Order: sequence, then C-alpha cells, then structure tokens
Amino acid sequence: MKILILGSGAGGGFPQWNCNCPNCRKVRNGDVNAQARSQSSLAVSVEEDHWFLLNASPDLRDQINNNPALHPKHGLRHSPIDGAVLTNADVDHIGGLLTVRESQPLSINATERVLSVINSNSVFNILNPEFVKRNPLPIGTQTELCRADGTESGILIEAFPVPGKVALYLEDEAAGPNFGSVAEDTIGLQIEEKATGKTFFYFPGCAHVSDVIVEKATDAELVFFDGTTWIDNEMQETGVGHKTGQRMGHMSVSGEDGSIAAFSTLNVKRKIYIHMNNTNPILIDDSPERLATENAGWEIGFDGMEVSL
Ligand code: MLT
Ligand code: MN
Ligand code: ZN
Repeated sequence: MKILILGSGAGGGFPQWNCNCPNCRKVRNGDVNAQARSQSSLAVSVEEDHWFLLNASPDLRDQINNNPALHPKHGLRHSPIDGAVLTNADVDHIGGLLTVRESQPLSINATERVLSVINSNSVFNILNPEFVKRNPLPIGTQTELCRADGTESGILIEAFPVPGKVALYLEDEAAGPNFGSVAEDTIGLQIEEKATGKTFFYFPGCAHVSDVIVEKATDAELVFFDGTTWIDNEMQETGVGHKTGQRMGHMSVSGEDGSIAAFSTLNVKRKIYIHMNNTNPILIDDSPERLATENAGWEIGFDGMEVSL
C-alpha cells in the first residue's frame, strides 16, 4: 500500500494568504528552514493507477499537478483518482471536490451527516451525479471502497467518530457548548489493504485521544495525526486569533493534554503529524519544538512525502 501526503498544512495552508505571523513571513521570504505546505489531504493506493483521496483540499489542482502518480495516464480523458473519502465537512477537506468536475467518474465517501452538507449545497452538483456516486460511509463497520465503476478497490475502510466539532460554517451558537456537533461530524479512518492486512490510521482532526482511539491505535504500524497547534492558545500567543485549538476541535501537540503525551504509551511504529497550522513552531526545521517532537518519535509530514506499508 502506498500513501502520499498531498497537503500537510491545516486549513489556510502555509503560508496562509492573509497571514503575516513570523512563520508565514519566514516561508514567504524563502527562509531555508520553512517549507511551504498545502492544505490537508492524503492519497492512498493498493494498485497502480488507482488512488483514493483522503479529503479533497482547495489546493487539489496543484496537488494533482505536483504528484505524477495522479496525472491522467490513458486516452484523452482519464484520472487515476477513483474517489475521495471525507473525514468532516470543513472547507479544507471538501473544497477540492469542486476541482474534480468535468464529468469524471468518481465516488465520494462520507458519513450521512457530511454527505447531507454536500447534498444541501447545490454547487457540488457540478460533480455530475450521473458519474459521481455519493456513498454513505457506515460508522463502526469495515466496508470496501468501491471504484467509480462500482468494482472493488481492494481497500477496506472503517470510520469511527473522534472528538471534534461540526464545520465552522455550520456552528450553531444557540445549540450549546458543542455548537450542535454530532458524532458523525468528525471521523477517524482505519484503512486496510485487503490483500495483505496492512493497516494505517488517519486522524486529521481530533480534540482528544479517546478510549476508542487508544484501543484502535495501540500497536499500530502507522498513524497520521492532527498536528494543528503546538500549544492550545497558540493563536492568541502569536496574536493572529482568539480561538484555542480545543475551541476549533483540535488537541495540541505538546503538554500534558497533547498528542505526544497521549501516544507515548501506545507503541505505534510510525507516527506522522499532518494538518499543521501555519502558527505551529514545528513547521520551522530548526526550532526547538521541532527537535522535541522528533525526539519524541514523531515525524513531521511534508507535501510529497511517500510512505509504503
Ligand atoms: C479546522 O480544521 O479547524 C478547520 O479546517 C477550520 C476552518 O474551516 O477554517
Ligand atoms: Mn482543517
Ligand atoms: Zn501565519
């Protein structure tokens, strides 16, 4: 099984279009220790010329152009992209669907809740429903992803709810402290190659390492995890915003409640941060925070990174 990081940044990417924080300035100024990152997406393949996107970021057009594996291969109109699996309805995870139009057969796989967001936004009908299937992803059951033509993909997938929240633009202030979020709003994915049983986990948004995550991820070969912020009040500390990571549905990398601590006893063979916000100091190659993260056994995902299982 091959996994490609198409975009290792969080929503907004790195640098973010309107951000002048020290990190964003560094990457714009060409600092050798700051590499640009596009928005959050992976791609997975178990067979040559067949790929599934894990989330479809607004940067998908460039991500396809930058990764030859995703270029058209056969005839005048073709794509090795068989479909997409969505882990929530955040703009950084669904905006790219609008890029893969042009009556290309695809499957979109997401929970009923996330599909209802897409179904209620008519702009997504630009993905011609005659060619683009919208498949509800069941929760807590392993199913096989289907290719656009309905054939089996050889990729088994299980979605399970993880702590998080509803997409920013759907928050309902009147609905109480969780803004009307339901379990299906944010999922983690367990992805298995049917032929070999090789398995990895993908959690681009996660507010807390729940018992279910501990149970699933213990002894895992490979985990991609939410690296949005280093500390919970990073947006305040850098002066770019007032929301905490927790308020946005993300746990920090560092600290007692952070993901380094939460995973320290789970015996995961390979742990890779993705979905890193432009304010996160681990994005800077020579920062002490980067060193501390790597010393804790984590890798910092980057655009174009390939992982084989
Ligand atoms: C998030 O991960 O918190 C979202 O992508 C935020 C957003 O929609 O800007
Ligand atoms: Mn995001
Ligand atoms: Zn910034």
